[in-house]
Amino acid sequence: MRVLVLGGDGFCGWPSALHLSRQGHEVVIVDNLSRRNIDNELEVQSLTPIQPLSTRLQVWRELTGKTIGFERLDVVTEYDRLLQTLQAWRPGAVVHFAEQRAAPYSMKSSWHKRYTVNNNLNATNNILSAIVESGLDIHLVHLGTMGVYGYSSVGVELPEGYLRVKMIAADGAEVEQEILYPPNPGSIYHLTKTQDQLFFAFYNKNDDVRITDLHQGIVWGTQTRETCLDERLINRFDYDGDYGTVLNRFLMQAAIDYPLTVHGSGGQTRAFIHIQDTVRCIELAIVNAPAPGDRVKILNQMTETHRLIDLANLVADLTGAEVEHVPNPRREADANDLSVTNAGLLGLGLRPTTLREGLLREVTEVAKRYASRCDRKRIPCVSAWTQRNRSGGAAVAKVGGAGR
Ligand SMILES: NC(=O)c1ccc[n+]([C@@H]2O[C@H](COP(=O)([O-])OP(=O)(O)OC[C@H]3O[C@@H](n4cnc5c(N)ncnc54)[C@H](O)[C@@H]3O)[C@@H](O)[C@H]2O)c1
Repeated sequence: MRVLVLGGDGFCGWPSALHLSRQGHEVVIVDNLSRRNIDNELEVQSLTPIQPLSTRLQVWRELTGKTIGFERLDVVTEYDRLLQTLQAWRPGAVVHFAEQRAAPYSMKSSWHKRYTVNNNLNATNNILSAIVESGLDIHLVHLGTMGVYGYSSVGVELPEGYLRVKMIAADGAEVEQEILYPPNPGSIYHLTKTQDQLFFAFYNKNDDVRITDLHQGIVWGTQTRETCLDERLINRFDYDGDYGTVLNRFLMQAAIDYPLTVHGSGGQTRAFIHIQDTVRCIELAIVNAPAPGDRVKILNQMTETHRLIDLANLVADLTGAEVEHVPNPRREADANDLSVTNAGLLGLGLRPTTLREGLLREVTEVAKRYASRCDRKRIPCVSAWTQRNRSGGAAVAKVGGAGR
């Protein structure tokens, strides 16, 4: 199938593009390289030495004989080119990774809040509008987040996107309805993902666009079977306070003898998935598209849930690192329970990579290997959720939810 990968130069997009190409799909990447510009803005580089995109694509061609195309294009500001790309290339599926994806970055300042809202909401609306205007039957696969559900303890297993509710009508009759699970965003970034869901519901209802929304957990790990083939294909590894995801930060901290920084008590429970499983899920979503007329298909793309303190202790046990509790810059519950179903992707054939299998390999093969590239000044999380946190006030035991 022809697959357009929007955001295909990023952490999840690059290994997904390679995986789909290796599986025999024809792949074109669209990216505006904004993530590389954000590296410059934040004055930090990926721990792993990622190559320019043209080098990555040339190496892939040399190694496999397969060509991945590339359009440098901003899906927010260059709508006409996006539409022309769809009309000219006629993909069967578009995978949409092209959003600003870091919660701390989205909370840094009013500029960062406005950038994240403008980029993410207009990206999603432009893609949907362009699919409709193209007149083509294109399946859109979007990367959402588990954070749309929020992280307050609810005492039930989180369903895959929809909730059946009962209401009492004026005449006393019981009325049942299926609704989107109530959104409960914990950052401006998460807020954009909750609003994406409404765009999907609307375009699906109004224009019959076929859509799969993958509510992904926090991705850990770096390499996939394809990015391992040559060092010049290596995936990015963000470790800084804005873009580093929690488990990868712990792994890198352990590799450089830096205490594992746990925000608050560490009682926050989050959902996780290895990058190898991410790329497999994308493929499963593409080949199991919703049928014409189906509602938006929502799948929870995660494989395990863990409390952050348990993860820190696990990494500490494996490596001898110390654990340090630091004030939490986020406004979120200090502890929560989280139980999630991922029956959809398991039913489609996902075989999860477990933390216990892969953790030590990540520390030794990636984090330790590139440890000399780490800038220790960039490790602390300096983006605060509220003015109070910014001025150093206590930041624990709030009710609400956040996390990547
Ligand atoms: N990394 C995670 O742990 C994680 C977890 C849950 C969900 N997700 C979701 O997966 C998606 C990809 O995440 P990632 O970690 O690969 O992020 P990333 O920042 O590494 O990649 C995003 C890519 O999109 C591009 N992009 C952004 N705005 C664009 C625009 N307007 N036009 C064209 N290209 C644009 C960037 O240049 C970048 O290459 C995001 O939507 C994110 O919300 C990621």
